[in-house]
Amino acid sequence: MMTQPHPCDADPLVDGAAFRAAMRELAAGVTLITAQGEDGPRGLTATAVCSVSADPPTLLVCVNRATEGHAAISAAGAFCVNVIAHEHQLLAEHFAGRSGARGAERFAYGAWRRLATGAPVLEDAIAAFDCRVAQALDWGTHTVFLGAVAATQSAASGRPALVYRGGAFLAAG
Ligand SMILES: Cc1cc2nc3c(=O)[nH]c(=O)nc-3n(C[C@H](O)[C@H](O)[C@H](O)COP(=O)(O)O)c2cc1C
Repeated sequence: MMTQPHPCDADPLVDGAAFRAAMRELAAGVTLITAQGEDGPRGLTATAVCSVSADPPTLLVCVNRATEGHAAISAAGAFCVNVIAHEHQLLAEHFAGRSGARGAERFAYGAWRRLATGAPVLEDAIAAFDCRVAQALDWGTHTVFLGAVAATQSAASGRPALVYRGGAFLAAG
């Protein structure tokens, strides 16, 4: 729950459109965040992912509370961050809802397995971080989940990563 006073109370903030316009310039690696919900697997495309600490191994993700993935992460207390390759662009669009697929249907594409927590792991992801929720902070429309990393997968394949900038998918590396 939000415990601090909202900063809007003290100083005016930039409007949402200006914030989004500036954020579009921040190139970000694309991931699929997945979780094993009470009604099966759920997942979403996400770029709001960041390393927090190597000791203990921890990352954070920011997930919109309106998504099915949010409910699944909250119920399971776990999630997996799948870092995807440029060749996975269609999967990124699919998990962003652009193909119309929702819920467990999204997992009809790709080969999936499990590691430590039971969250779906994309077999040919460039890297995957299987996490247990250590803390959750609601802020605005989103929840920041801190994930303690229980298992990883890394391919060291040299395949170009999928990056998002200015509303477009790009290859990096
Ligand atoms: C490139 C890209 C990055 C995204 N990053 C995030 C993110 O970090 N967090 C988030 O909650 N949604 C993000 N989204 C939006 C979700 O992928 C999208 O709303 C998805 O359909 C949510 O799943 P739902 O259908 O269960 O609501 C992103 C979408 C795209 C295309």
